[in-house]
Order: sequence, then C-alpha cells, then structure tokens
Amino acid sequence: MNRIRTGFSARLDLRLPLVQAPMAGGPSSPELVAAASAAGALGSFGCAYLQPEEMKKQAAWVRARTARPFGINLFVAAQPGVIPEAAQRAAIDAVAGCYAQLGLPAPAPVAPPYAPDLEAQLDAVLEIRPAVFTVHLGELAAERVRACKAAGILLGGSATGVAEAQRLEAAGMDFVIAQGGEAGGHRGTWTRDPAEAMTGTLALTRLLVRAVKIPVLAAGGIMDGAGIAAALALGAQAAQLGTAFITCAESGAAALHKQALLAAREDTTMITQKFSGKPARGLANRYMREMAEAPQLAFPAQNTLTGRLRSASAQAGNPDYVAMWAGQAAPLARALPAAELVAQLETELHAALASIAALSRE
Ligand SMILES: Cc1cc2nc3c(=O)[nH]c(=O)nc-3n(C[C@H](O)[C@H](O)[C@H](O)COP(=O)(O)O)c2cc1C
Repeated sequence: MNRIRTGFSARLDLRLPLVQAPMAGGPSSPELVAAASAAGALGSFGCAYLQPEEMKKQAAWVRARTARPFGINLFVAAQPGVIPEAAQRAAIDAVAGCYAQLGLPAPAPVAPPYAPDLEAQLDAVLEIRPAVFTVHLGELAAERVRACKAAGILLGGSATGVAEAQRLEAAGMDFVIAQGGEAGGHRGTWTRDPAEAMTGTLALTRLLVRAVKIPVLAAGGIMDGAGIAAALALGAQAAQLGTAFITCAESGAAALHKQALLAAREDTTMITQKFSGKPARGLANRYMREMAEAPQLAFPAQNTLTGRLRSASAQAGNPDYVAMWAGQAAPLARALPAAELVAQLETELHAALASIAALSRE
C-alpha cells in the first residue's frame, strides 16, 4: 500500500497521517505508545500525572523497543495554591455520600501539590527529547518554546477555537490540534468558558485551517479510516484518535472502561467537571448524573479529592464512580492489538479515499 503523505506525516516519516492521542491516567501506556509508533502512527504519552523520573523511565522503555518517533503531552494549566479547609467543606460533603457507597470514609481535605511540578516535567521533556511535544489546557512559556525548538522537538497545542489556534501559532508552535466538541477526555479550552467552546470537529477543523498557516490536526469522534479521510478532506494534515486506542490490548485503561466502550451501542457520553474540576467528556455514569449540580474544587484539586473514589470503584469492578473518558463515536471502538488497529485504519483510509475519488470519474 502506498503511503499517504501530508507535510506533517512526511516530516515525522509516518506510514499514515495518524496520531494515537496522549491519554493521561493510564490508557497511553508505554506498551501502547511503542506499538502505535512501531506500526507507523505517532504514539503519544499523556504524562500529565507522571513524575519526571517515571516519564524518563517510560520513554526509555519505548526507545528500547522501537526507533520510531513518539510524542509526549503535558497539561499546562495553572494549579491552585492552598485551599482553606472551610472552603473545601461543601465539595467534601458532596463526594462523601459516594465514598460511603463504596464503604469508604469521607476524604480528608486536600493540599498542594495536586499534580507533579510542571517545570520539572518540562525539564524531563527536554532531557527525553521526544520527536513531538504537545500541550493541553494552555500555552507554553516562550523560553520553553525556544528550548524545545533548539532541541529539535516539533511542538503542538490543543485549540478549541480560532483565537486559541492563533495564539499557539503566534507563540511559535509548529502545529495545532483542532479538538472538536465530540472529543473524549478533557476539553482543551484555555481562553474562554469551555461551555461556549463546543464547536464540532468538522466546523472547527475548517475554521482553523483558514485561520492559521501551520498544520492543523483534527481530533474528536474519529474512529476509523473513513473518519481520517474526512479529516484530510477538511484540510487537516493528520487525525488524532484517542477513544479508538483505549480498547487496544496494550492500552492501560481499566478493564471496566474497555468493556463499557465495547458494549456501547449509542452515544451515551456527557461532559462533567466533577471528577477533576475541569470539563471532560466520558461515558455517563451514576457519579456524573448525581453530582451534576454539586459543589467542587478547582482543577486539579478536585482530581485529588476524587482519586481514592475512582480507584476503589475500578478495583471493585463498579463503573459507577470511575471516569471513563470517551468521545461521541465510542460505539465504533474495537478490541484489537494496536498494530492491527493501525493496519485496519490504513486499509479503511485507502478504501475511503478511493471511493471518494471514484465519485469524480466520468
Ligand atoms: C481517556 C482519554 C484521556 C485523554 N487525555 C488527554 C491528555 O492527557 N492530553 C491531551 O492533550 N488530550 C487528552 N485526551 C484528548 C485527546 O487528545 C483527543 O482530543 C480526543 O481523544 C479525541 O477524541 P476521540 O476520543 O473521540 O478520538 C484524552 C482523551 C481520552 C479519551
């Protein structure tokens, strides 16, 4: 099969214009990243919750298995400082009933740091020198942009609107990811109210292709080769797929998360802020519904507050309190090893492009 080349895929020498999305919290395991990259896509680590030493260890693990390029991704949102106990009371009381359902005591007040130190993580990125580094939930400081470029790292960032894409371009990023409203996981919005930044992948990709000169990658609701062909037709230089890779054998997602995706027959996702403090799309469950109006802490303090609840629920095989991030096309998920998924996506992409080309023949 001929390679399908875009500027983006040619620069990284990918077999096809496909990125396995970074997925913090487990799914983008070293096994998944290595398998996706070895198969000709760009495998990506979601390192938001990883300490620098662990980032370096996982990157070395992948490098020992494949010489192909891979990406690293971090959350660059600011963390809140100390939140007085009195200001945490309402949020603690709100989750206490859920903890009780699992036979657990109410959580203690949380204290910083709520996530690994971003500067130390950024130092680790420079040490690892991945082929690609992307940021989510914000932009990268100018001196870090300069340092990454000097190290030969290709830089990208998530945008959910035109203004964000233009700011990323002005900051010197090499490409921008158009994260449509269909996308699973955290909304990447960082310049406005995320509730007002729900433009779908089709419209957003076109808006960004027109608004910036750097390559645009399309993300959100893309699960098969036809979806990748559609993204290319819209002017995207690659498609970034998250949910499609969660059900891969190598993904580190919880078993019940994979099972729920494979059982999905309809889009049952919804957006919630109650797991982490920032809006994210996942399969609707009891926690999301019952907590819809509940008080919460700021991101990522709320993530710390719900940590034990999420892990205890997953360990008990109970999906009620687990964050099962997923995009709107989740019912198209398939349980395959990553290499087979990438091979099928490639076959489907060629078939979709050929059937569209056939429409314009005499
Ligand atoms: C489980 C999960 C975790 C995610 N974690 C991250 C992350 O750490 N960093 C990031 O930039 N995007 C993250 N995303 C969003 C993806 O980059 C991408 O926008 C999304 O998966 C595209 O939509 P799709 O899931 O329908 O393919 C995550 C998505 C999912 C499903």
